[in-house]
Amino acid sequence: MPAPRDHARQRAALVDAARALNGLGINQGSSGNVSVRAGEGFLITPTALPYDRTRPGDLVWMDLDGAPRGARKPSSEWRIHRDIYAARTGAGAIVHAHAPFATTLACLRMDIPRFHYMVAAAGGEDIRCAPYATYGTQRLSGHALAALEGRRACLLANHGMVAFGADLDRALALAVEVEALARQYWQALQLGRPKLLTRKQMAEAIGKFADYRPD
Ligand code: 13P
Repeated sequence: MPAPRDHARQRAALVDAARALNGLGINQGSSGNVSVRAGEGFLITPTALPYDRTRPGDLVWMDLDGAPRGARKPSSEWRIHRDIYAARTGAGAIVHAHAPFATTLACLRMDIPRFHYMVAAAGGEDIRCAPYATYGTQRLSGHALAALEGRRACLLANHGMVAFGADLDRALALAVEVEALARQYWQALQLGRPKLLTRKQMAEAIGKFADYRPD
């Protein structure tokens, strides 16, 4: 079982990532939580501790049965993180955030439809909004996992969003992209009814994303 000082590199990267969320404007205070896969389990931010006060030793390591190892209590949303790591082998890091525009749409229980080709960055033709359940519950995790079927991001009704990627950089980048899409969709709705792309157009965008990377 890893001791609190194990996984030093991932601990430092996770603290940096958690603090970056505040700077990127997609989180505030102790809202949201971040994790990274580490060995046979994952490291996760502790519950209720603002990121600017979080140190590498405050992070909690958990195995995939949800057994914690650390001085602090894990994030109340550890079940969502655990369940994504267990179900999605490509998940190397996860961000949960109460980003303002994503949360605005989530409070209206709206999916983000195929209004812009970048929706494909989350893996499919839309970004679903999972039904509401109390934060920190297994029920909420079940709703999130269902909304993430075939996707790397979803909204959580009356709550926020979840995004994951192969590593912390990619999970953060997707969380930022989902927030930008939520803002763009909200803005478009102020002026009218956004024209949606066709399924075929989205399928083409999804196909092109398979090899969208720098040389
Ligand atoms: P934690 O501080 O327990 O991570 O909870 C924050 C949150 O956003 C719950 O959904």
